[in-house]
Amino acid sequence: MVLKEIPADNITRPLGRNEVIGLLFRLTIFGAVTYFTIKWMVDAIDPTRKQKVEAQKQAEKLMRQIGVQNVKLSEYEMSIAAHLVDPLTMQITWSDIAGLDEVITELKDTVILPIQKRHLFEGSRLLQPPKGVLLYGPPGCGKTLIAKATAKEAGFRFINLQPSTLTDKWYGESQKLAAAVFSLAVKLQPSIIFIDEIDSFLRSRSSSDHEATAMMKAQFMSLWDGLDTDYNCQVIIMGATNRPQDLDSAILRRMPTRFHINQPNLRQREEILKLILENENVESRVDLKEIAKDTEGFSGSDLREMCRDAALLCVRDYVHNTPDDASGEEDYIRPIDQQDLQKAIQKMKKSKSASGVGVLMHAALD
Ligand SMILES: Nc1ncnc2c1ncn2[C@@H]1O[C@H](COP(=O)(O)OP(=O)(O)OP(=O)(O)O)[C@@H](O)[C@H]1O
Ligand SMILES: [Mg+2]
Repeated sequence: MVLKEIPADNITRPLGRNEVIGLLFRLTIFGAVTYFTIKWMVDAIDPTRKQKVEAQKQAEKLMRQIGVQNVKLSEYEMSIAAHLVDPLTMQITWSDIAGLDEVITELKDTVILPIQKRHLFEGSRLLQPPKGVLLYGPPGCGKTLIAKATAKEAGFRFINLQPSTLTDKWYGESQKLAAAVFSLAVKLQPSIIFIDEIDSFLRSRSSSDHEATAMMKAQFMSLWDGLDTDYNCQVIIMGATNRPQDLDSAILRRMPTRFHINQPNLRQREEILKLILENENVESRVDLKEIAKDTEGFSGSDLREMCRDAALLCVRDYVHNTPDDASGEEDYIRPIDQQDLQKAIQKMKKSKSASGVGVLMHAALD
């Protein structure tokens, strides 16, 4: 009907030059509008978009802070770079760790020294720093603490890798992000890639694994092997876990240097107590040896919590024994005495037995 109304000439005659240009112009505009609309829609429905933009800003800021210049990073590397640790903002040093001197000395000798004094180790392939370091042991005994101090003291670039950064809704993106972790570490070397609670990320592979996870694990392992073949590469992967038995055996093989950070013994507990109470108001008669004897089975974190409880007892005493209207006088909180610590120990023992933490595992791998 409609076609009949249009004169036949108009349909059959060739288009004029202006008409062709007009048509092309309209098509271009239409194409551009469609492209930007779709792009805007994809961005709007992408839940990770905001995160990516934030990560990019964060990465640029961090790179400036740690003094990395003239290094071009891809988009994937940028999102990993957001997890770089600025050593200047780290608070933990070796002196904040008590009772683990042997572990620290060994860590310094096997991991840090070969990179800091590279010229001494250059001739030998055997003396190269290990590509994987595993810290394992019961919870609350200082694994994360040691990793933080390493970041601060070693002077390496430190990537604190959270497994959630490697996840993406698009198929295959996780693998690209995993590859970016390694390429970024190589660009910034010497560097340490630290994975806390590594058992959750690289646990034993099974046939019921999701395909994307299985692929990411496999990629991680092969990239890790890549580090091994390059003798000049100064990238170390450091992991911490309290469930080493859950780790994939292939991952364990890639972490030949292992440090067992066990429950503190009597001497270590005394040292930890000394460190925790160093700047506190403690009565001079307090016998820390006695306290260390009574805290058998306590971790470093338990000891800290126990001391906090004891200190709180003093504040509580002050608050309850001072009338509300007693103003003008100088606030005086009595120092922590042996009894406070004993009370706190009993309380901690009760809560430990209630939560069944007494059955701590001491899995030794070697
Ligand atoms: N050797 C230690 N010296 C001083 N403080 C310690 C020590 N061990 C543990 N602590 C205290 O316990 C807290 C927890 O330690 P950390 O986070 O290192 O435990 P972890 O071994 O990583 O435990 P998890 O396996 O549960 O992650 C520290 O913040 C610190 O206050
Ligand atoms: Mg930890």
